[in-house]
Amino acid sequence: MILIFLGPPGAGKGTQAKILEEQFGYRQISTGDLLRKHRAEKTALGAEAQSYMDSGKLVPDDLIIRMMDAELENVSDAILDGFPRTIAQAAALDDLVKRKGRPLPGAVLFEVPREVLEDRLIGRWTHPASGRVYHERFNPPKKAGVDDVSGEPLVQRPDDKAETIRTRLNVYEKETAPLVGYYQRGRLTAVDGLAAIPEVTDRIKGAIAVRTGTA
Ligand code: AP5
Repeated sequence: MILIFLGPPGAGKGTQAKILEEQFGYRQISTGDLLRKHRAEKTALGAEAQSYMDSGKLVPDDLIIRMMDAELENVSDAILDGFPRTIAQAAALDDLVKRKGRPLPGAVLFEVPREVLEDRLIGRWTHPASGRVYHERFNPPKKAGVDDVSGEPLVQRPDDKAETIRTRLNVYEKETAPLVGYYQRGRLTAVDGLAAIPEVTDRIKGAIAVRTGTA
């Protein structure tokens, strides 16, 4: 099963993908994390992506589709966190799974009002090596500034600045929100992403059960 997590920056996609990966073994594939890894390793793709990410814009479709083609080559069960983000990426993903003779992916839409998102992103702290995410008020680590599992330091993302956040939210509305229409006919389940983290997890598990016919 391939499941897409769709929703604006700060909606909780990464938080929930990580929980489902750790508790239930679904593999999280985050395009944001993959791009940050390319940047840290100073690859050509990382260098090309850098200016787009720092300004809050989308990295061009051809780069993302090439990266995901390779990433999805041997994957069977996965949560796609942050991909697709444009209609062109969604169509490329459908082509890829059709070529492999697999069912078309379903999507979970995280619904969170825009006024909440900025607050969530400004207070976010991340453990880069694992992708674990915290929030200084809504989901604090046991010890401030330190990852619960590894004891390593947490960092704030450079694109979590007020001005860049506004650009990211505008880009989401213009380029990614149209995907709701793309997946609407039978492939989309909306969840209330404003609820507490464990409740959101339960709702997503419900959506997965319906999708896999185990409800
Ligand atoms: P990416 O890394 O994917 O960022 P994003 O989509 O902007 O999403 P975020 O990671 O900001 O938010 P999230 O929904 O995962 O929220 P989180 O769980 O962390 O992309 C970064 C950049 O890479 C893009 O701007 C673009 O340049 C590029 N890129 C990536 N993919 C691309 C693609 N496909 N095409 C083109 N370019 C691409 O939660 C946020 C905070 O809220 C955390 O602090 C968390 O603790 C807290 N929180 C979570 N859930 C709750 C809750 N229920 N209640 C209270 N607090 C909560």
